[in-house]
Amino acid sequence: MTFRARHLLGIEPLHPTEITELLDTAQHYAELNRQGRAPRDVLAGLTQINMFFENSTRTQASFEIAGKRLGADVMNMAMQASSVKKGETLIDTALTLNAMRPDLLVVRHPNSGAVDLLAQKVNCAVLNAGDGRHEHPTQALLDGLTIRRAKGRLHRLSIAICGDIAHSRVARSNIMLLGKMENRIRLIAPPTLMPSGVAEFGVEVFDDMEEGLRDVDVVMMLRLQKERMDGGFIPSEREYFHRYGLDAAKLAHAKEDAIVMHPGPMNRGVEIDGTIADDINRSVIQEQVEMGVAVRMAAMDLLARNARDARQETGVTA
Ligand code: NCD
Repeated sequence: MTFRARHLLGIEPLHPTEITELLDTAQHYAELNRQGRAPRDVLAGLTQINMFFENSTRTQASFEIAGKRLGADVMNMAMQASSVKKGETLIDTALTLNAMRPDLLVVRHPNSGAVDLLAQKVNCAVLNAGDGRHEHPTQALLDGLTIRRAKGRLHRLSIAICGDIAHSRVARSNIMLLGKMENRIRLIAPPTLMPSGVAEFGVEVFDDMEEGLRDVDVVMMLRLQKERMDGGFIPSEREYFHRYGLDAAKLAHAKEDAIVMHPGPMNRGVEIDGTIADDINRSVIQEQVEMGVAVRMAAMDLLARNARDARQETGVTA
């Protein structure tokens, strides 16, 4: 099964072979990026609009660089300053942009499901750059690629996802991707930050870091999503770091060659000790950022190809 979808809205609908195709394409772009040989004609003549209704530095920059490297015309809509502030609805904004005939729409929105809704209203490819607590597919793909490069495979690994799982779209997309690729997933969080109904994910659940990290290959830390908390989830940041922050003593329970990941932005001294984050022998955090560009190049390349094929099949010319 090859990736023939019109949009990339989440990991949930993807088949493992589609995930592998996306990762193989991204791996190819990662090599070209390192050699400074990214092909500028892949998205030439196409218009990419980035609509970020929620603050973002790295994801937005990463999508912008990815589009430009492949030759797209990239436009960033400053949604904070846009007509949305004047009361325009999401759908009206989308229809207005749609009338300008973009080819790729990259959307981040604070509400779960908002990006799916938008995709139904426009006739271009939509990429979900994170919607509420729901999905963040390119993050899970870049994490998958980083793991595959570091470990030489993306199956039968033992992977711990730790911290604020309840509020995290990164955790949700990763649980689906890593599960589809047949890895063993362990979730480690205080009970207040563990989502309900977690048993149906087919994962192991821990509330103790030392137990949960025992012999894992990969330690994936999550940011404490303070902006999604209305207080009362943790006693204090200090106490949280003491029990759930990744430091050398806790990491010693993982395999000797375990890698440390974090999607960023990091709260140093809250969920992760700065020395661990900067330890180039363990931390692959910078590699995650690098793979982010490659994964977004791959996703936009494949979606643009699918759109071209669909036009040819229906006999409609651009
Ligand atoms: C993640 C996000 O926005 O969901 N960050 C990112 O994509 N750079 C994770 C987070 O905000 O903690």
